[in-house]
Amino acid sequence: TRPRILVFAGSAREDSFNKRLARLMAQRIDALGGQATFVDLRDFPMPIYDGDLEAGEGLPEHASRLKRMFMEHQGLAIASPEYNGFITPLLKNTIDWVSRPDGDLGALEPYQHKVAAIVGASPGGLGGLRALPLLRQLLSNIGVTVLPDQLAVGGAGSAFHEDGSLADEGKAKALDNICQRLVTTLARSSQ
Ligand code: FNR
Repeated sequence: TRPRILVFAGSAREDSFNKRLARLMAQRIDALGGQATFVDLRDFPMPIYDGDLEAGEGLPEHASRLKRMFMEHQGLAIASPEYNGFITPLLKNTIDWVSRPDGDLGALEPYQHKVAAIVGASPGGLGGLRALPLLRQLLSNIGVTVLPDQLAVGGAGSAFHEDGSLADEGKAKALDNICQRLVTTLARSSQ
């Protein structure tokens, strides 16, 4: 069976380079034997985590929905922007809310036994490379196995063709390799 992989970017903005990269990953995952679900975090707005909110009303509706979506997928593919050398508050906040218990679902259940691929894009030369080890560490802390391969797409303003593919052949190949490894690893572990 084709492993199910949830794909999203750590940016909400319409023209986000990381959303482009995430959509491309979803397309490549589908082409390479997986089953990708792309989610736009703009469609899952939630307040900044606040323990009083959680104690009062539990998880916000969108956090609860997303947590259940995580449960329906075996893999994660995340495209993260870099803000001041770190991941975005949107990405951290989303990961944090989803890491909280919700009814029958335990705190870290959505993350345990998951395999993730992480990539990033930035208009700068390094492509947001500094954020990736931090995202790797965060995901590892909550039980996600992160693939060693990663890709940072620099000069993002001119890195994509109009059809959403990557202009640089080497980078396109590297992205395919990452998607292939994610699909293969998940297919193997589900046997
Ligand atoms: C940035 N940007 C940025 N870029 C980078 O390569 N390294 C960095 O440390 C930062 N820092 C940073 C801080 C803040 C607060 C903002 C708003 C932006 C630029 C960033 O890469 C650019 O806005 C990207 O376009 C964001 O990703 P999306 O939204 O295109 O996916």
